[in-house]
Amino acid sequence: MISIDKLVVGKSNVSTLFAFIRRKGEIVSSKFIDSAKLNFVNRQWQENGRDFFSFNCISHWVLIAIVEEDKDSCFQVEMLRRLGGRVLDFCDREYIKDLQFVGELDKECALAYVEGMLLASYTFDNYKTDPKRVIHPFDHLDVINEHVETEDLQRLLIVARAVEKCKDLVNEPYCSLNAEGLAAAFVNMSHEVGIDVEVMHKQQIEAKQMGGILAVNKGSIDPPTFTVMQYSPENAVNEKPLVLVGKGLVYDTGGLNLKPGDYMNDMKEDMAGAAVMACAMYAVAALGLPVKVVGLFPSTDNRPGGDAYASGDIVNMYDGTNVEVVNTDAEGRMILADALAYAKEFSPALVIDAATLTGAASRAIGPYGIACVEKDAEKYMDCLCGCGEQVYERIARFPFWREYDQLIKSDIADIKNCGPAEAGMITAGKFLAYFTDYPFIHLDIAGVAMFDKKNNYTGKGATGFGVRLIVEFADAFASMCKHDKYLGKKI
Ligand code: BES
Ligand code: ZN
Ligand code: ZN
Repeated sequence: MISIDKLVVGKSNVSTLFAFIRRKGEIVSSKFIDSAKLNFVNRQWQENGRDFFSFNCISHWVLIAIVEEDKDSCFQVEMLRRLGGRVLDFCDREYIKDLQFVGELDKECALAYVEGMLLASYTFDNYKTDPKRVIHPFDHLDVINEHVETEDLQRLLIVARAVEKCKDLVNEPYCSLNAEGLAAAFVNMSHEVGIDVEVMHKQQIEAKQMGGILAVNKGSIDPPTFTVMQYSPENAVNEKPLVLVGKGLVYDTGGLNLKPGDYMNDMKEDMAGAAVMACAMYAVAALGLPVKVVGLFPSTDNRPGGDAYASGDIVNMYDGTNVEVVNTDAEGRMILADALAYAKEFSPALVIDAATLTGAASRAIGPYGIACVEKDAEKYMDCLCGCGEQVYERIARFPFWREYDQLIKSDIADIKNCGPAEAGMITAGKFLAYFTDYPFIHLDIAGVAMFDKKNNYTGKGATGFGVRLIVEFADAFASMCKHDKYLGKKI
């Protein structure tokens, strides 16, 4: 990742980006840019709507970017993140190593630009043997902006590092990251930032009779794991924890209901829910947010081995529920159900799960956001949606009507693990909600966990989508708890 510093005075003969936010037709001016450049920029911007300019001054570059003013403040901020991605690409292409960023922007916009550059600088180079392909020229940004403090940059760096960790985990293939490997990665991360962590291995999962996890694991040659992370700072403002649950399916073949052809291609991404939540917790701890958080991460792969669970099987789950298996490819909800039932032991204020759970979520809204349902958690949901707009990891709320409950009723057991083809994202949520008795939010990240082409500052491959959302929410949740404390309510 690139490094960043705050500078009070700019340096001469160093490549510089000047960024402006302007309405259409409005003039750009600056005492730091000579009039020949300004005239050219203004003419092009007025006549052709051109918004990005690069002047090669031999010893350095002068870059000028104009972002169009937008009345949607969250979108405005997002445009600056995207500009960060665009400038990073330009710098890498032109072998620019250092850049200073000058902009008379407010703090939020200036930081969004920096964040865009930081996030865009991620690369996954673990398996490239050609040294030329692992050279990424750009490596340092100086920020010259009176509103931006060094602590603001420090915070951005922490969150960007968490996003990077998440992308690394999701990009890593199954052959080098099985359930034990994922648990070990969570242990290392936890130790780095003072989170208590415990891994339950196969024997303990058996002892706890976590039937959902064990059923999915039956066809595998690798044992399952269940990682429990607990962050309990002394100054926590909540008594009941915020519990984060994540699907840690290290590879999903579909099991005996084997995925056909291309559908299996990206299934190493099926542990993204666990990676997102664990990495968000890592950032929460590194930032020292005053909020108790518990992370629950069940993990296995889903394979059609000789002993694999089969459709028609009835599985006795951790909480005693009998589940009729209708499709072995609906395995994520089987392992999550045990984790959600286990979450009751922590008396949570709220449980949020993140999971690459259904193709239906991805088909419904495409790669633009997270599909989501909620039970008894309306005020938290409102807050989470607001956070989603802020960080531009947006959330689409789906209905959760009681009629959907009927779709997963089983004739021979308590419920079945999948309903009819329609409303697949919602019935998956209904299945999960069956195992909860607390305020609950389900995030289906199947559409956003991995991109097959470059997308602004997010890049191709694993996206880390959701990490910034959850960190922002944890912060907001802490404020809500503080507020409720003053009002005499205990969370
Ligand atoms: N891991 C998949 C969902 C998925 C699809 C994630 C595409 C990322 C990209 C999940 O386990 C699955 O197979 N879901 C099935 C459910 C069905 C059998 C009810 C699906 O969506 O087809
Ligand atoms: Zn599946
Ligand atoms: Zn899956």
